[in-house]
Amino acid sequence: MKIAIYPGSFDPITIGHIDILKRALNIFDEIIILVADNPHKKSRFSVQERVEMIKETVKEYHNVKVDYSSGLSVKYAKDHHATHLIRGLRAVTDFEYEFQFSEANEFIDKDIDIVFFMSHKETTFISSSTIDELYQNGIDISPLVPPSVIEHYKKR
Ligand code: COA
Repeated sequence: MKIAIYPGSFDPITIGHIDILKRALNIFDEIIILVADNPHKKSRFSVQERVEMIKETVKEYHNVKVDYSSGLSVKYAKDHHATHLIRGLRAVTDFEYEFQFSEANEFIDKDIDIVFFMSHKETTFISSSTIDELYQNGIDISPLVPPSVIEHYKKR
């Protein structure tokens, strides 16, 4: 059984993330979406809210789990018998960060490798900050995020 971890802030989850997840499910038997609980990064939604939004979004996938961690992603992967991390690449600007991220991870544990998916061109402009800015300015974000994200925004 091939297990992969999809780590990220998911603040909030977008259709870009979901696209990467669906494509990764063609390769892996099980995927654990790992919400990073990073106290140094100011988040819009609490970890619990982010986990809730994702759980609601992926509830139809029996082979997708959702969890959170404040530790190292590769360590979490090892502890959960995963062999790979999944990441999406939207533009050249992502590459530099991801290259460094992958080197740091390799330094920590060579056994856990990373699989990258190139974002589809319709989703390359999407980021969680863009979503937030569009919403704050009254733009309809429903084509860009799952319904659970809209519900959480409305609750605020
Ligand atoms: N579609 C849409 N948006 C995407 C995307 C996609 N496919 N992929 C990334 N993004 C966006 C996110 O929405 C986010 O937008 P924002 O900055 O506007 O909020 C941005 O790209 C970066 O997000 P993310 O992929 O979540 O990266 P991150 O830098 O927030 O988080 C972790 C990186 C959490 C995966 C990484 O820091 C980690 O694993 N941390 C745990 C500690 C660790 O193991 N560190 C590494 C070794 S020191």
